[in-house]
Amino acid sequence: MFTRRRFLQGMAALSVSSASHPAARAQTYPFALGVASGYPSPSGITLWTRVTGLAAAVPVKWEIARDESMRQTAFLGETIAQPEWAHSVHIDVQGLEPGRRYWYRFTAGDAQSPVGRTRTAPAANAPVERLRFAFASCQQYEQGYYGAYRHIVADDPDFVAFLGDYIYESSWGKDHVRSHGSLEPYSLEDYRARYALYRSDPDLQAAHAACPWLAIWDDHEVDNDYADNRPEDGMARDEFLLRRAAAYRAYYEHMPLPARMRPKGPDLRLHTQVGWGSLARIYMLDTRQYKSWQACPRRNRRGGSNTLDIEKCPRLDAPGRSMLGRAQERWLEGALGDSRAGWNVLAQTTRMAQFDQKPGPGRSAWTDAWDGYPAARRRLLQTFSERNVSNPVVIGGDIHAFMVAQLKADFDDPDSPSVASEFIGTSITSQGWPQERVAKFLPDNPHVLLNDSRHRGYTRVEITPQRWLADLRIVDTVRTREAACSTLASYVVENGKPEPLKD
Ligand SMILES: [Fe+2]
Repeated sequence: MFTRRRFLQGMAALSVSSASHPAARAQTYPFALGVASGYPSPSGITLWTRVTGLAAAVPVKWEIARDESMRQTAFLGETIAQPEWAHSVHIDVQGLEPGRRYWYRFTAGDAQSPVGRTRTAPAANAPVERLRFAFASCQQYEQGYYGAYRHIVADDPDFVAFLGDYIYESSWGKDHVRSHGSLEPYSLEDYRARYALYRSDPDLQAAHAACPWLAIWDDHEVDNDYADNRPEDGMARDEFLLRRAAAYRAYYEHMPLPARMRPKGPDLRLHTQVGWGSLARIYMLDTRQYKSWQACPRRNRRGGSNTLDIEKCPRLDAPGRSMLGRAQERWLEGALGDSRAGWNVLAQTTRMAQFDQKPGPGRSAWTDAWDGYPAARRRLLQTFSERNVSNPVVIGGDIHAFMVAQLKADFDDPDSPSVASEFIGTSITSQGWPQERVAKFLPDNPHVLLNDSRHRGYTRVEITPQRWLADLRIVDTVRTREAACSTLASYVVENGKPEPLKD
């Protein structure tokens, strides 16, 4: 029987199916990629959108208000969305009040964007009782839906920190729920299409519209396992830098990055710090652009990662090798030294703790993570004590598993003191190793308190002056958008005690 209810369901399905194809929607609605904000400071925020479906430059009005109904306007203005920047808009609003919620929207012609919600950071050094944020990484589009973001939105965090692999350049894995529908990107046009596809996802859009984001990239925003100007395959360096320039530009065009991050050719300065009053400082680190080439690549490869016995690769430990590049290292040392924040959160992309992948005697290392840069890791961990850094906590992604670990002054000495805590969040969708494979390595890594590759999800963090609390959040499935979410485990770090404890 055809009821009114059925009719409405049919209408909803129709609009969803036309909406689900970004190109189809773009013809009718210029804000089909949504809105976003990022990089809160005590007085400012960056607002982002990208107008689609137009060829020429187009004026775009923006407004930011103190209320959800957009009546109490704080500031407004107009900019020109330029086709050479894919009609992306990055508005760095200044003059806002600290520690406050704001709402914003854009207008192009007759079309109005959805209203986004954002907030400014608390005033510098202001006492702050609580910071709540979520961190996420690794969202291979084909391998699942982004239902985890519904739960992030429900948590109402102060911000989301995204820690790499926002897109994937390649199609891999099994049991796909949807398709990239295009081959691996190389050109600017290719990367724009790939980012637009990911940004067409409604759950990802909702998370961007719900709160400000901070973001760093890992390898898949450009190409698997690249380091600086070296890809894993044989592509010439000049040619690879053109590819990197295209990928970085498309990244900028699709993320709420401040205008000062606008790339110049293959260079985009992404690393930065964000303060949260006296409570916390977050360091967003770039572990790709300035990275020394991975030592000892696989046979018949010119670059890329390897898993090897450390005795077979003495230059792994060369002191000049760096994960961040020496300039970013010095910047970070200075910033950590200056910091008077109670908690110092280093957001980076991969695993910092040593992880021996050879059961029994001897040690095997995966060279793309910090195990491939042991001298740089020692330098950084020494900085924590030399600069008297208050409560350093490292967060990361990349391994498609949760990992909670003690960062040790000497990982090979079980009695060595823990100098910091590390929390790696699992992937939003990207598939992980079988748990049996992870479990084989755990006896050789006693500083790793938890390593779980069975689940997809995100990490929810609450910081107070007394303690850090991390909830490891897992979704039941990535095969539907409506997955339930629960907490696998919670860990705390007490003020002044540099190691995680099970809550
Ligand atoms: Fe990944």
